Amino acid sequence: MGGKARHFKWEVEYMHWSPDGEEGVVMGINGQFPGPTIRARAGDTIHVELTNRLHTEGVVIHWHGIRQIGTPWADGTASISQCAINPGETFLYRFKVDKAGTYFYHGHYGMQRSAGLYGSLIVDVAEGEKEIFQYDGEFNILLSDWWHKGSHEQEVDLSSNPMRWIGEPQTLLINGRGQFNCSLAAHVSNSSASPCKLRGNEQYAPHILRVHPNKTYRLRIASTTALASLNLAIGILALKGSPTPPPTHHRRIFLLNTQNFIDGHTKWAINNASLVLPATPHLGSIKYGLNAAFNRKKPSRSVQARLRRDEARGKSELHDGSGVYMLRFNTTVDVILQNANALRANVSEIHPWHLHGHDFWVLGYGEGKFTEKEEAKFNLKNPPLRNTAVIFPFGWTALRFVADNPGVWAFHCHIEPHLHMGMGVVFAEGVRRLGRIPNEALGCGLTGKMLMNNLHN
Ligand code: C2O
Ligand code: CU
Repeated sequence: MGGKARHFKWEVEYMHWSPDGEEGVVMGINGQFPGPTIRARAGDTIHVELTNRLHTEGVVIHWHGIRQIGTPWADGTASISQCAINPGETFLYRFKVDKAGTYFYHGHYGMQRSAGLYGSLIVDVAEGEKEIFQYDGEFNILLSDWWHKGSHEQEVDLSSNPMRWIGEPQTLLINGRGQFNCSLAAHVSNSSASPCKLRGNEQYAPHILRVHPNKTYRLRIASTTALASLNLAIGILALKGSPTPPPTHHRRIFLLNTQNFIDGHTKWAINNASLVLPATPHLGSIKYGLNAAFNRKKPSRSVQARLRRDEARGKSELHDGSGVYMLRFNTTVDVILQNANALRANVSEIHPWHLHGHDFWVLGYGEGKFTEKEEAKFNLKNPPLRNTAVIFPFGWTALRFVADNPGVWAFHCHIEPHLHMGMGVVFAEGVRRLGRIPNEALGCGLTGKMLMNNLHN
């Protein structure tokens, strides 16, 4: 089955908007916030021609949950899979959606997700196939969080010495709409004292989901929040039939998550390295062997976990890291994410880790320090297959995936300010198997220079 090609032309720009009743500036697409919903069928190819209409900054878009098999340059991660698209320039994202599901897309450069650059991507089952559940209608619900302070100011706050924390969001948004200062809405909605404007301006009036009695509806729910963890519980029988993981691993990587100071700046670090992104995207520099483009020193495979709740942190071994974990193609990799103390005594935070380019199995999680004997408790029979998993405070989480997708892939905490402060690593596998990487993905840093030289020779 060939599948259809679906074409979109998008322009990203800043615009005035009132997501929660207070006017601010959002990053919109084609004049919309959130951006347009993409709807396709499994097997289709999406073409998004993205033009950057921001005046002074680059932009990229990541398709969260899409594995990008054979198209790693379309993954939309600045400095990893491509150069940020310059103002006035257009980049073509062309990729196949191979699995039905509810996905979303978002900016992946600086804190552009906090600025409102996101939207939904829905993939229906392939032409001629049936959904496993029967339903009469469906609703799409995209959750996000919103600050009145702009994303650039937030970036400066987080990077300054001392760091200024951005605090809780002013408003939670559903499909880009919320009500600032409206936590009392349930109690006072009938009184004229209510600050909540439940009707009125169509930018923030809530969406009303219209349902008919005795009908069955599917809710598609995705969260693109930059910080907030939202809990939602529905009792449904879990779907059987996900593939099972390989029974053993070839390699196990321990990733210790700590919070530390580098020259007075607060950073998150993984095995003592705090992620910094290079000027030359990793995909091109690895493919073409540009050794000067990033730190070729291998990142540490494990460091002694400092887990005691009162222990001093932030030792001198900490450094900026742009190292890459090189994975042997087609091997099975276990990742043990180990949580630890943050800088404040007795505080350990929750981190949702997201892997690009793959789904992984969540084999287990637990409290305290991971030891090899926990392995006996791994769920190898029916572990959940996901692309994001949480590590709990002072806990560990064990993941398994197969490194079968040639490319360079980010693996990071999905809390936007944490990623900005270095909470991520980069995996690479099978890069030499890739054919030609499109020039547009290479046009900056050393790969850009290389292109120029080829042009002039
Ligand atoms: Cu949804 Cu690398 O992120
Ligand atoms: Cu985090």
